[in-house]
Amino acid sequence: MEHIVLGRTGLSSSRAGLGCGGHSRLGQGYGSSHKDSVDVVRAAIDMGINFVDTAKVYGTESIVGEALSGRRDQVILSSKGQIIKSGHSPLGRDYISAEDLQASLEASLKNLKTDYLDIYHLHGILPHQYDICLDHFLPILKDAQKAGKTRFIGITERFIHDPAHQMLQSALADNHWDVVMAGFNMINPSARNTVFPQTQKYDVGVLNMFAVRNALGHPQSFQALLEHLQTEGHIALSMAHRQDLIEELMDATRSGSLTEAAYRFCCHEAGNHVVLTGTGNIDHLRSNIDAISGPKLSESLLERLENNFGHISTVSGD
Ligand SMILES: NC(=O)c1ccc[n+]([C@@H]2O[C@H](COP(=O)([O-])OP(=O)(O)OC[C@H]3O[C@@H](n4cnc5c(N)ncnc54)[C@H](OP(=O)(O)O)[C@@H]3O)[C@@H](O)[C@H]2O)c1
Repeated sequence: MEHIVLGRTGLSSSRAGLGCGGHSRLGQGYGSSHKDSVDVVRAAIDMGINFVDTAKVYGTESIVGEALSGRRDQVILSSKGQIIKSGHSPLGRDYISAEDLQASLEASLKNLKTDYLDIYHLHGILPHQYDICLDHFLPILKDAQKAGKTRFIGITERFIHDPAHQMLQSALADNHWDVVMAGFNMINPSARNTVFPQTQKYDVGVLNMFAVRNALGHPQSFQALLEHLQTEGHIALSMAHRQDLIEELMDATRSGSLTEAAYRFCCHEAGNHVVLTGTGNIDHLRSNIDAISGPKLSESLLERLENNFGHISTVSGD
């Protein structure tokens, strides 16, 4: 699989990264066994993926830890800590203490059976939570980096509630972060204008989440999102044109699947580094790796997508 340098970290990552969160959580989201989820991580590495992203809150760190036994040095390992007290709304201001974040990092290392992470992120930060990150939590991350517990530090946005990337725009302006995780997909490509120019300017590594999520996993859910965008006045596409667009996307792929088109849309974007794919299904994993290694969509199709969705920054595709 093709590799890419993850910005100023200098890490050489596969273009496809395994996401161990999202709705699937390696299949834990829909009842897969622990062993089946361990097998998904091992299969990903066997298929050439060397980037694995998890987080304490996903409940998949111990699965990843088990899968990486004896193979820790083969992967770039990324995990995250939340700054909101457990049981409280992630949208609020009920923050943990700096010591709690330190403890959360220690727990992640233990779950993952490793003594260092490659990247440790603050997880799912909203615009109004950014200042406290700078004042209280960034110093903890810097200390952890000095102590060798994480090689690089990152921050991830809460794309569902911040689809216009306001938090990342603040974060990229002050240049503390080696890596950011941003939502980017064919329905909301706004990171192209508000995130990727800055990451390229400061040589920040980019992880792409939400390439598929719910909306682009099935033609029916895509159709439902298009109807919503039409009703809200964000697009002007008749029912026949919406159907025609979905068919054109599927016809443009080798597998005839919308999901392939969605991953291929993301992986050729300038400034985008690692496209995360979240799955608990080894067949999906195989096709997603093929998609992320696949050719760019045609210029005419990309132009059609740009004309219809290039201005959208209000939905995530969840
Ligand atoms: N704020 C944050 O920090 C944050 C937020 C969200 C996500 N993330 C990270 O980003 C990663 C990627 O996000 P995501 O998990 O939402 O990923 P995604 O790849 O955009 O979408 C994954 C969803 O699509 C389904 N899917 C995958 N391949 C498919 C295929 N070939 N055909 C049909 N359905 C398919 C998966 O279900 P199956 O299991 O059935 O394949 C899953 O429900 C997460 O896993 C997590 O590591 C971070």
